[in-house]
Amino acid sequence: MKFASRIARLHASPVREILRAATGRQVVSLAGGLPDPDTFPQLAGLESQRSQYGLTEGDLDLRQEISALLAKRGLCCPPERILVLNGSQQGLDLAAKLLVEEGTSVLCESPTYVAALQVFSLFGAQLEGMAIGPEGSSRQDLTESFRRCDPAMAYVIPSFQNPTGALWSEDAREALASELDHRTECVLLEDDPYGELWWGQAPPAPVASRLRKAPWIYLGSFSKSFVPGLRMGFLACSEELITPLERLKQASDLHSNRLAQGWVLSDLCDPNREERLADLRARYRFKCDVFAESLKRHFPNAQFRKPSGGLFFWANLVPGRDLRDIAHLALEAGVAFLPGEHCFPSAPDLGWARLNFSHASVEDADRALGVLAGICRSR
Ligand SMILES: Cc1ncc(COP(=O)(O)O)c(C=O)c1O
Repeated sequence: MKFASRIARLHASPVREILRAATGRQVVSLAGGLPDPDTFPQLAGLESQRSQYGLTEGDLDLRQEISALLAKRGLCCPPERILVLNGSQQGLDLAAKLLVEEGTSVLCESPTYVAALQVFSLFGAQLEGMAIGPEGSSRQDLTESFRRCDPAMAYVIPSFQNPTGALWSEDAREALASELDHRTECVLLEDDPYGELWWGQAPPAPVASRLRKAPWIYLGSFSKSFVPGLRMGFLACSEELITPLERLKQASDLHSNRLAQGWVLSDLCDPNREERLADLRARYRFKCDVFAESLKRHFPNAQFRKPSGGLFFWANLVPGRDLRDIAHLALEAGVAFLPGEHCFPSAPDLGWARLNFSHASVEDADRALGVLAGICRSR
């Protein structure tokens, strides 16, 4: 595994190290710029012990709960190897800062999450796409993709992939893990913001949990299953990556918002959390079913697969039709969607659209698809 050359210039902040050493001990700290706690106003929902500056890695009680959450998903990671983040998007940024420089080969699913492509490109990645089907990438495609580009980082979203909704099977996850373990130099970046949003069956254990040797970073989010405006996510990683990742976060923002950490902790400890998630899943299952019916009605020839989790349909609305000119006409008519071309690491396919079904009401979504179909017919 090769870190980007800028990492040689990355040092720990001495102040942060001192503050960490002083945490929980009777130390008179003259080290940091900590305000007097007696001056803190009582803010609704903010307990006094979370008003002060906190640890870069995040509050220990929250990291312990995240560790327990991961164990339920099949991934064993102690709190010491967990970093609380400002959304999992921050994890993409930190991973890219650590590993990507001009010309670094990064393998991603094709298509993939558009904002990951944005970050990787910013750091100069040489983006390489690997084909995926509804159950992930086949063993043969995987081997062939790895051989072709010899990536330094492999970025995947195995559970309800954005944008395709693909759910990597046990077999595909095993195949990816064994390919990575054969290499040991390539870092797995596994992004899992949708893992709790399922309504068929829960996803298989993460790819990261199947690795024996290869280095890995696993990203989780509280945006889709809790509250996106809190901007709370986390990363878990293999031993050798935690120190540089923590320093990168330190250099970027010192630590995440502690009020938001408190809110996430209270959700994770809520005995009714599973019930809340069950309601969320039932609601999205309903919306997803109705959306699929609307899609079939308005676009009788569309190619798409109904997802069993996540938030998107990936549809070839009118096979053979380039959608690029449709997007702005649709927007003028009050309908927004993401043309699929933006989701490809290279060689975009121009006929696909990413359509979100969770946000709009089923009536509004049906009306929007009708408007879109009308525009496609008229052009
Ligand atoms: C695949 C994927 N990764 C990361 C993110 C970022 O999520 P967060 O809100 O946790 O930053 C998203 C958001 O849509 C996403 O779809």
